Amino acid sequence: MRMVQRGFVIWLLAGLGGCDQNTISSHEIRQRMDASRDVVKVFGKTLKSHLQQAMQQGGPVAAIEVCHEKAPEIARQLSQKTGWDIHRTSLKPRRQPPDEWERQVLEEFEKRKAAGEPVKKLEFHQIVEKDGKPVFRYMKAIETQPVCLVCHGKNVAPVVAEKIRQLYPNDQATGFDVGDIRGAFSVIQPLDKPFTQVSVSLEDNS
Ligand code: HEC
Repeated sequence: MRMVQRGFVIWLLAGLGGCDQNTISSHEIRQRMDASRDVVKVFGKTLKSHLQQAMQQGGPVAAIEVCHEKAPEIARQLSQKTGWDIHRTSLKPRRQPPDEWERQVLEEFEKRKAAGEPVKKLEFHQIVEKDGKPVFRYMKAIETQPVCLVCHGKNVAPVVAEKIRQLYPNDQATGFDVGDIRGAFSVIQPLDKPFTQVSVSLEDNS
């Protein structure tokens, strides 16, 4: 129930209207929720293995290149396979700033974290209107771990900071501590097509 109330608050704040949550069955909402969870799990695992490999092989500066190219590519592949928009965002973004709905959900995640919810448990879904069409939206928080500090922490090495500045002149994604919400996965499923179960494993899982 808490979820629903929270959703309602965001709904009012966002000023989004004309989209009735009841037009889609709770069963279908559950299916879309589970499928979103699955796809962000694959996204996260794939990113992590690329990151680990790149860090081991070439160190952080080379790994930045890998993140720069691979992260959007993986997102694109998963989006193509599912027909959904799958990406990551953050209140302090490196690549993609949040849209208004995402910003409010991320702010809500910060409040929930401050109230004691574990970051790993922070997720949210809602049916809203986007560009005049009903969509199912899902977000899941991403926790900052020790390894992340190399490129997102408070004391980023000058050579790493320089590389980041080259690729992302407007970077805001440093200054994080372990346990902070680094950002979130975001999934947008258009509701004008019926829900079909899709397999989201990636061939290139190295
Ligand atoms: C080697 C440097 C490096 C490390 C280590 C690293 N990241 Fe990143 N991170 C990046 C780069 C570069 C991007 C931008 C990727 C892109 O262009 O899509 C990024 C983007 C992100 C984003 C997308 C939101 C945004 O700010 O654009 C999230 C979330 C994120 N990283 C989380 C993490 C987490 C969690 C860890 C630790 C498990 C981590 N990163 C470790 C370099 C790194």
